[in-house]
Amino acid sequence: MTKKYYPASDAFAALSPPVWRASTVVFDSVESFINRKSRQPDGYSYGITGTPTARLLEQEIARLEGGKHCAVTPSGQAALCLAVMAFVQGGDHLLISAASYGALKTYADKWLARLGVEVEYYPADISGEIADYIRPNTRMICLEAPGTVTMEMADIPAIAAIAATHGVMTMVDNTWASPLGFRPLEHGIDLCVEAATKFFGGHSDLLLGAVSTNNLEYFSQLRETQSIMGLQTSPEDCFLVLRGLETFELRYRRQSENALVIASWLQQQPDIREILFPCLPGDPGHEVWKRNFNTGGCLFSFMLKQDNDSAYSAFFRALKHLPLGASWGGVHSLIAFYPAQMQRDRIFPRTDRAIIRLSAGLEDPALVIEDLQTALHAYSEALR
Ligand SMILES: Cc1ncc(COP(=O)(O)O)c(C=O)c1O
Repeated sequence: MTKKYYPASDAFAALSPPVWRASTVVFDSVESFINRKSRQPDGYSYGITGTPTARLLEQEIARLEGGKHCAVTPSGQAALCLAVMAFVQGGDHLLISAASYGALKTYADKWLARLGVEVEYYPADISGEIADYIRPNTRMICLEAPGTVTMEMADIPAIAAIAATHGVMTMVDNTWASPLGFRPLEHGIDLCVEAATKFFGGHSDLLLGAVSTNNLEYFSQLRETQSIMGLQTSPEDCFLVLRGLETFELRYRRQSENALVIASWLQQQPDIREILFPCLPGDPGHEVWKRNFNTGGCLFSFMLKQDNDSAYSAFFRALKHLPLGASWGGVHSLIAFYPAQMQRDRIFPRTDRAIIRLSAGLEDPALVIEDLQTALHAYSEALR
């Protein structure tokens, strides 16, 4: 292993990377100033094209993804939008998994549709049947596995192979698996997106996203779009994600193990209707998960026996340890609620029931289990 440190001069070197703050980049000659745009896609010409701190993070994420290039963005949602908007234009057909992250679907339905993009959703647990959805003007397939909240597994390598034969680009939101669980670029996917807000940052205190690719042409297009849309990142946030990455693998392994312990306990409880978690044998996505992914994530969903508003309120009121909030992947366990109507409104609904989603943190899982036990007791009391 090579030594990793950051020298500032002969007299100073640190183990942590420098935080470079800059809007203005200075030039040593008028010629290089005139030609500054030729420094792209990875050079520096103005703050909007990134700083050395952003580049360090991009190199680190590209390495993790097994990819050549990476662009970091101010959030995971910015990365998803960038990956689509850099390549899709009016008249194109865009295929999106019905269980994609909700804000990507809203962006497609409201903004892209307004610009004349034909947006179509496909079932989230799809495999080779994706071929039936491809049209002559299909430009890109957006994938996410497992699906947001409902956790369906798509067969990503199978879809990538079919897309390639049709000349259709593919983008995967790989946030749940992370590159430790799955590396989309090694399976023929063109663009790999991570919401670094979740596992990479790991401490629920920043927003950041990343798009990685092996294709230099795609990368140049991403960089230009990023710069034109002003999607640059704060160097402090890049620094914090670089720091988060130092413990990423340890956190990921422990949190994924904790998720399995908690989900397996929940499975035995009488008030549980169903656990949605492809890592569990018996889940409809288990075989696809086992075939394609190395390990699991820290996030899973479950449904309770009966939909009853006051019983759900009693459940959440009884929680003493688990905070209720959006997001996941941080060191603190977190719980979230998705009402039944949200599920019924989906194009390919997995269920018509309310869903509870749990992100396992680094705590002793016994603490989370104790909290869930109290909450389940309150739920069943309220049902009486
Ligand atoms: C799967 C997935 N992708 C993307 C995002 C968006 O990330 P961010 O919150 O950084 O915009 C989220 C956020 O919850 C997510 O869960």
